[in-house]
Amino acid sequence: MGTDNDYLMPTYSRLPISFVKGEGVRLWDANGISYLDALGGIAVAVLGHAHPEVAEAIAEQARLLIHTSNLYRIPVQEQLGERLCRIAGMEQAFFSNSGAEANETAIKLARHYGHENGVENPSIIVTEGAFHGRTMATLTATGSRKAQAGFEPLVPGFRRVPFNDLETVRHVAKHDPGVVAVLVEPIQGEGGIRIPSPDYLPELRQICRERQWLLMMDEIQTGMGRTGQWFACQHHGVQPDVLTLAKALGNGIPIGACLAAGAAAGVLKPGTHGSTFGGNPFACRVALSVIDILERTSALDNARRQGARILEELDRRLGDHPGITAIRGMGLMVGIETSNPCKEIMNLALEERILVNVTAGDVIRLLPALIYRDQDSDELVDSLVKTIERFAGT
Ligand SMILES: Cc1ncc(COP(=O)(O)O)c(C=O)c1O
Repeated sequence: MGTDNDYLMPTYSRLPISFVKGEGVRLWDANGISYLDALGGIAVAVLGHAHPEVAEAIAEQARLLIHTSNLYRIPVQEQLGERLCRIAGMEQAFFSNSGAEANETAIKLARHYGHENGVENPSIIVTEGAFHGRTMATLTATGSRKAQAGFEPLVPGFRRVPFNDLETVRHVAKHDPGVVAVLVEPIQGEGGIRIPSPDYLPELRQICRERQWLLMMDEIQTGMGRTGQWFACQHHGVQPDVLTLAKALGNGIPIGACLAAGAAAGVLKPGTHGSTFGGNPFACRVALSVIDILERTSALDNARRQGARILEELDRRLGDHPGITAIRGMGLMVGIETSNPCKEIMNLALEERILVNVTAGDVIRLLPALIYRDQDSDELVDSLVKTIERFAGT
């Protein structure tokens, strides 16, 4: 099978494989070969594939009502808003269809907040290595020159600082009166599973409070239980003013959310923002079923348990490997950094019948479903160790 199709814009370098069926933690190709999925469509399939209860919610809601309009009240959207606000400690939700849109909402909200507070040219602090999306504003917020190249002019109003560096933030606080918000991932996902030091988020919270900046947490990859808490910032007891979500929220049905609290709540008023599809009865019903299942099945505990199991085994078996420079993770978000670029690992992993991804050039990324059992974690580690040994020629 080739990697390209003439009728598609070649924006992705695709692997030479496609899947025809999924069930639980496995995907099948057209030849009936099954693969253990440790990527979940990049942190999306938090409950695995073809979850019967999610499928039932999809079918039932499709038969009942898919779409009306935000011109009317949508009870299931109101329920989802309340449910998310309760688990996140937030006050209000705006629903969209993707992570980039959720962050666009956050960026617009921050600018509006700035203008309301007399800041003529509001700017938002963003970090090196961040990933926030591919729309023009979120691409600008993204800290990758490679992703931005060729799309200039970028959007004004962003200040870039190194990730996990509070000194630069304090310096900016002293010298730039235009800052109104900080947008940050609690763990950088695309950037290579970068986990900041434990004081980073609490200190950012403190600086934002002192300066009356909004702390905006991009939990699009980390959220919905992946790290063992509903949201990664909760590991640090940090309550953001804005929290963005997408990916796992719909287990594959597109939905994004921007949650707001405190000074950020009430900023966006009638006519300031909108979406045709965002928050429709279909997507909201599915997201509610995802939350129900995550809650009922203690999936967050399982994320912690399986994550620890995977990390421990990887450490034991690869900790001294000369080709591995770091193994790190939180819950079911794991990164294995190699001493050389390792994109080829994705192809080699296919031969071992596992699906993993490489991000930032040299970090093997694991984002398994929260329904992984012990035997799935063990199989993943076994196959991954074999893959890495083959890659390293050991
Ligand atoms: C942290 C983070 N923010 C935003 C996005 C963008 O989400 P989407 O691709 O749904 O627009 C991603 C996607 O990988 C992400 O990981």
